[in-house]
Order: sequence, then C-alpha cells, then structure tokens
Amino acid sequence: ASPFFHYHQNQLFVENCSIKALAQQYGTPLFVYSKAALVHQWHTYQKVIDTYPNTLICYAVKANSNLAILNLFAKLGAGFDLVSGGELFRVLKAGGDPAKVIFSGVAKQVWEIEAALDAGIKCFNVESIPELDLIAQVAQRLGKKAPISLRVNPDVDAKTHPYISTGLKENKFGIDINVAAAIYQKALDNPFLEIKGVDCHIGSQITEVAPFVDAADKVIALLQQLKEKGIALSHIDMGGGLGIRYLDEEVVEPLEMVRKIKDKLHKAGFDNLQLVLEPGRSLVGNTGVLLTQVQFIKPTEARCFAIVDAAMNDLIRPTLYDAYHGVLPVLIQDIPKQTYDIVGPICETGDWLAKQRELAIQSGDYLVVESTGAYGFSMASQYNTRPRAAEILVDGEQSYLIRERETLAQLVALEHIVE
Ligand code: LLP
Repeated sequence: ASPFFHYHQNQLFVENCSIKALAQQYGTPLFVYSKAALVHQWHTYQKVIDTYPNTLICYAVKANSNLAILNLFAKLGAGFDLVSGGELFRVLKAGGDPAKVIFSGVAKQVWEIEAALDAGIKCFNVESIPELDLIAQVAQRLGKKAPISLRVNPDVDAKTHPYISTGLKENKFGIDINVAAAIYQKALDNPFLEIKGVDCHIGSQITEVAPFVDAADKVIALLQQLKEKGIALSHIDMGGGLGIRYLDEEVVEPLEMVRKIKDKLHKAGFDNLQLVLEPGRSLVGNTGVLLTQVQFIKPTEARCFAIVDAAMNDLIRPTLYDAYHGVLPVLIQDIPKQTYDIVGPICETGDWLAKQRELAIQSGDYLVVESTGAYGFSMASQYNTRPRAAEILVDGEQSYLIRERETLAQLVALEHIVE
C-alpha cells in the first residue's frame, strides 16, 4: 500500500474512494489510477527542474499512454518521449507540446518521420546510419531540417532484467559510442539535418545510480571529442530507466541521480547543456493498480489457485519477465490465510499474476495487483478474445472513466468474412 492506496476500517481505498464501490460501479478487471499519486510522482521530477531549471522531463509514453494521463502530464509541463507515430498522435490529441517531444526507437518509418517533422518536434533520437539517411531524405523532400541526436550505446551494465537492459554492446539499441563522432561529422555535413544533442538509454527498472554515472562518463568523453571537432550540442538526454519499488527495492530519487550527472557535466565544462530525461515507469508505475475479482478458489493436491477475472492479457509482466507484483485484498477479513497462486482464465500455464501469496480470501472477493500503472494496460492484448479492461482515474472522492471497457462488437469490428 501507499499513501494513495490505503486501508480504512479493513477496506482498501484509493484516495477517498472505496475500491469495492469502484469495482461495483465499473466492473472488473479495472485499472485504477490515483491522480494525487501521479501528481506526487511528477513532483519528484519537478524538484529536479526547480534545482536545475535547464532540464526537460519527457514522459515515456509507452509506460501508460492513456490520453487522460498524457493530458495531466502535459498540464504539469511535461514533454514526451515517443517511439511511434501512434504515440505522436496520442500526444498531440492530449494537448502535448510538440516542441517538447523527443522521438526515440530503432526504426522510424517514413510516415512517422513525416508526421513528426510536420508537428515540429524537438528532436529525433537516431539509432543507426540508415535511419539517419532516411530522416535526412524525408526532411529534404519536405523542405525541412530535421533536428537530431544520436542515441549512443555506452556499453554499460544496467544490472536489470536482460529483456529490459538496453545499453550493452550486444543489444540492438543505439550507435556504438566509439563510432559516434564520425557519424556526427556526417550529420554535420548534411544540410537537411540539424545536430541538437546526444542521447542514451541504458535500460529500465534500474535501482542504482552507478550505471547512470558510468553512462554519463562515457557520453561526456564523446562530448569532448565532438567539441574538439567543433561540433557543439545543445542538450544531453540520459533516457529513462529509474526503477520503482515492487517489493522491497531501494529506489533512487530522480534528484539524486541528476545531481551526480550534473556534477560530472559541471566538472567537464558542459553546464550549458540542457538535460533531458525520459522517465516512464518511475512516473506512473506505483500510481495504479489492477482491480480484479476472485471467481473460484481451486485447491489441488499441489497448489491452491485463486482464479481471478484478470489475466496475462491484462498484465503480461509476470509471465514475460517473471515480474513480482504485490497483491492486496480489498477487504481484510478474519478468515484463515492460505497460500495461493493467483491465476487468470486464459488457456496458458503462463497465465499467472502472482505465485505463493498468503491471503485470507474467498470466491467473490476483490483483489488489487499493485504497481500496474506502468506497462500494464499499455502492454495489454485481447488474447482469448477478452475485451481489454476499463481504466479509471480517481481524484479525491471523484472517479472518472478514462477508457471504457471494450465491447465484443469492437473486438471484431475490423474483421471480414470471405464469401
Ligand atoms: N526511453 C527509451 C528510449 C526507452 O526505450 C524506455 C523504455 C524509456 C525511455 C522509459 O523507461 P522507464 O523509465 O520506463 O524505465 N515493458 C518493460 C519495460 C520496457 C521498457 C522499454 N523502454 C516492463 O514492463 O518492465
């Protein structure tokens, strides 16, 4: 639990709303986000801006791309980090400022580059020579100059799950930092490109400062090389990646990480560079829960299963990364505790949300799966023809439906039977 998700007389609340009442009003499975928690998380980054005004926080849209959440961050002053034309569409629709938009990703398509140039984004983070060439070609055709950074791969170990580690030599991401200077030179000579900065992103769910500092050291060495060549940049983007507490992780405060990076920049004489960050999970991860109802309790010889109405299509993280998410009962009851595997109704052994949890529950009860504000709904699918869950935003006593539950008709609306 957190200050925003708390028990009051044995009942779980989000801000001032009873979660049971929300389950009854909106149905389950349901993603429930707390606005106060979102604003609170934003403030951990606002502190960075207050301390170092020349900082831009670009929320990584992929973590949770609901329009209401994007709109909230836009109103708080955030920029956005995108990885697709679809995310650009969302950001513009949600009132995001294109001048604060960074476009990341290893393979931007022509239509995406066009849309981003038309919108007037701040910068493309470029990940290869062919991508640089393509961006220049599209810019030339549109009669524009494309603002670019190179995303370099600093080859540091972020010490996180291999699937979400991105800054190692063997990952597909970024440009080898040792050849980056030559590519900057190439970009400099192209009249349709405008060099803006340098970028790196070393991974996700990072719970130590050291990997960020190591990456900063390597990027600063590159900045020095570029300076010698007379190539001046206006910003340095250190990506996202700060972890959150799922169980008992020690987490790094954004300001603590930035202080270390800023000190390095200061010592190397690069105080003038704007610092850009692309946080996703640390802004939204612990601001939401997945609310679900126990359908059956199924004791077997080996295990006792609590089969719930949420499944791997709603939250893929456990089965994909073996990720841990806390599970809380919505009602604390005086009944015997048992050890449960919390599983969904999907026809896959991988369809589990949590394993071996001590809970005092019975069928019909509601549970919440914690820390599902990031990479929850945004990775949801309709597997087994399950409509994706609804999403609500709670603000004090109020709750707002920010995404309706999908209907069965919507699930098949784009399909055609061949006569
Ligand atoms: N910038 C870039 C270029 C990224 O690739 C990512 C995440 C971020 C920023 C935001 O990282 P964050 O601050 O959220 O760590 N689905 C996985 C996480 C994948 C992260 C992919 N890139 C999960 O559920 O753990």
